[in-house]
Amino acid sequence: MSDDVSETVARSLRGHEQSASFVVVANRLPVDRVQMPDGSTAWRTSPGGLVTALEPVLRKLGGAWIGWSGAPDEELDPFDLDGVQLVPIPIFDQEVGEYYEGFSNATLWPLYHDVIATPEFHREWWDSYVAVNRRFAEYAAVIAEKDGVVWVQDYQLQLVPQMLRELRPDLRIGFFLHVPFPPAELFTQLPWRRRILEGLLGADIVGFQTTGAAQNFVRLVRQRVGSKTHRDTIYLENGRTVTAKAFPISIDSVYFENLARKPSTQARADEIRASLGNPKFVLLGVDRLDYTKGMPQRLRAFGELAQQGILDPADAVFVQVAPPSRERVDQYRRLRDEIDRIVGRINGDVGRIGQPPITYLHSSYPREEMAALYRAADVMVVTPLRDGMNLVAKEYVACRYEDTGALVLSEFAGASAELKQAYLVNPYDINGMKATMLKAISDPPKEKAKRMRAMRRQVMEHDVDKWAQGFLEDLETVLEPHGKRTRPVD
Ligand code: G6P
Repeated sequence: MSDDVSETVARSLRGHEQSASFVVVANRLPVDRVQMPDGSTAWRTSPGGLVTALEPVLRKLGGAWIGWSGAPDEELDPFDLDGVQLVPIPIFDQEVGEYYEGFSNATLWPLYHDVIATPEFHREWWDSYVAVNRRFAEYAAVIAEKDGVVWVQDYQLQLVPQMLRELRPDLRIGFFLHVPFPPAELFTQLPWRRRILEGLLGADIVGFQTTGAAQNFVRLVRQRVGSKTHRDTIYLENGRTVTAKAFPISIDSVYFENLARKPSTQARADEIRASLGNPKFVLLGVDRLDYTKGMPQRLRAFGELAQQGILDPADAVFVQVAPPSRERVDQYRRLRDEIDRIVGRINGDVGRIGQPPITYLHSSYPREEMAALYRAADVMVVTPLRDGMNLVAKEYVACRYEDTGALVLSEFAGASAELKQAYLVNPYDINGMKATMLKAISDPPKEKAKRMRAMRRQVMEHDVDKWAQGFLEDLETVLEPHGKRTRPVD
């Protein structure tokens, strides 16, 4: 370990003797610390696609996961969970406002999602982003074994690869961006654009969800850093090369299919349908309550179908599950109010006693319940305005083992590059969405089965294990500056 690692980090990790040859570094731990009603605390799986994808990988490979517990000012000792060392990293109250809610979620998040909301640029947020990224890099420098592999995740930690390489040049460093990477026209708004590009270039491999995102990055590096590039390879001045390419992420497909096949899941699915009044069609949306997910547009499209009498609320209902997210960020608070209003208006206009057309649930549910909801849904509606991948779409497909059901999917979700047989929509086109939802409801079962079969083949063959293996194998075979491989490749 380098002498540069700060005293505070060394102190907070003293006594934590274990090191790991494989380390995941992500803003969040895969679990959140929650306060139970009786005052005790428990750990609950964190929300979002990143955790969904990586948790099974790390459980299988073993190693350490460095991340934040989700609560400000919490200084916790490392602990073991299912064979994984969890290493909590503290994020202090002011940093939660500046690094997490500010720079990560009010600057980068909207900038990387087509500026659907207007990104805010504040210098003190940037300073906090730098400071917290440094802390993550220092923790990783302490935990990683000599010549180990460190895999840094997502937009909150884009400076970590470079900072970590400076501290630990012996490591092999991978970075994966779970969200979209914007075109140069948007990215260059960022006052700190070059620092972010250089931060990422500290990795040996920079992975993206789509080829388009990888190309955006390579082009920006050429323009703004001045490096030579050829296809997915970037040649740095110091002789090191960096690979930038697409590794579309996935889910633990077999796990979801097995969950769906359990008799208890089917029983729960029947129960859900019964409590909805056994309608002919159940449409389902499942999204963190986020403005990138296109919920207002989707609910409006369904609402119009109900209001115009095209769909009878006795026949077709919409269930929208929207777990709360980033509730202290302004845009998220406003979105919640907007959804409340839209749902209230539609249910008020066309609902009957005991028969609201939209059931809106502002909570998160365990995977068992999600599998039952997927089983209960005739049509899954996934219509983000922009999304890195969207794993909910893949979870639905994995659960439809009888090749029934239909997926309505936005062209602007990374998943649409793989799930080409979905009912694809432009989520900005309300009339187009109405027509496609109707088609997804009314197409003959044979047509739906054909589409679902093809999508299932894709999801079952390309699961999260394959994703991680692909990335980590590439990382193993990274070339040293002079072209020699540093590790044997079998
Ligand atoms: C997305 C991001 C993740 C993030 C998750 C939940 O999936 O790519 O990095 O963890 O949302 O968001 P939160 O802000 O609650 O961690």
